[in-house]
Amino acid sequence: MNLGELGVERETFEPGLAESVERFRTVLSEPRNQAPPRIVGPGPVLLLGAPGAGKGTQADTLAKMWGVPKISTGDILRANVANGTALGVEANRIMKLGGLVPDRIMNEMVANRLEFSDTAAGFILDGFPRTIRQAQWLDGYLSTRRRGAVLGIINMSINLQRLVERVIHRRVCPLCKTVYNTQYLPPKRMGKCDKDGADLEQRSDDCAEVFQMRLDVFKRETEPLIRYYRDRNLWIQVDAELPPSTVTEDIVSRLTQCRMQLSR
Ligand code: AP5
Repeated sequence: MNLGELGVERETFEPGLAESVERFRTVLSEPRNQAPPRIVGPGPVLLLGAPGAGKGTQADTLAKMWGVPKISTGDILRANVANGTALGVEANRIMKLGGLVPDRIMNEMVANRLEFSDTAAGFILDGFPRTIRQAQWLDGYLSTRRRGAVLGIINMSINLQRLVERVIHRRVCPLCKTVYNTQYLPPKRMGKCDKDGADLEQRSDDCAEVFQMRLDVFKRETEPLIRYYRDRNLWIQVDAELPPSTVTEDIVSRLTQCRMQLSR
């Protein structure tokens, strides 16, 4: 097939467009005996990583890109704290000390969220599971309620020394929840959200003392999940020290590749 057969004259193209059509022509002229690429959905995805590794940042981007919901247990707890619910009062006490809310409460909270129909094509778990018991509960849930859907596990690896810097410079918009970093990802106007102009806030657990406690809890309770998951088919480790967009590209390309292999 030539360009004329595509219904347009070469001279009418902008340079970039002409190149695109050339590429399209090349694709069309390739042998047709190959099956067309299959579209592989994200399925259930878990972002695993230390506090400040960038789980929330990646979860937001991926959720928008894939059109699936982000389920952040930290955000759900903070919403409860803000609304003054009984759970919020109890959670606030624990979160201020950098501890973990009991497994039974967390499992039930996630089970309730997963009942919503927007999770049918996939969902991104940010901050759950973070104990072996939560992971075992999730395995049971996926096998009984999601016909054995295979979980994509993204381990966001980072030098723990770098985390405190990220966390103490984190600022969050109280209205739209966009996350900034005064050092690495600053807003356009200091202290103001780019999207709605609201005054940015600091999370109450983002001080050096509470962070150290969160890190200790991570090492004790959540790091063992690396051993629990690392032999799974969809275990993917990414370098979370790279710029956010590079981390996103890495996650998307490797997860897509792994899912395609798995579905062959
Ligand atoms: P949660 O809100 O989940 O906190 P966390 O796990 O400690 O993680 P963070 O939100 O601090 O960090 P993040 O990895 O999302 O990083 P972010 O993208 O914001 O949980 C809070 C508390 O709730 C827990 O301590 C616990 O008490 C309770 N809880 C929650 N889930 C629970 C569960 N399952 N069981 C029991 N208790 C539970 O990025 C951090 C900063 O770095 C930002 O400023 C960002 O802009 C910046 N940044 C991100 N990526 C990059 C990059 N690539 N380069 C440079 N800067 C970057």
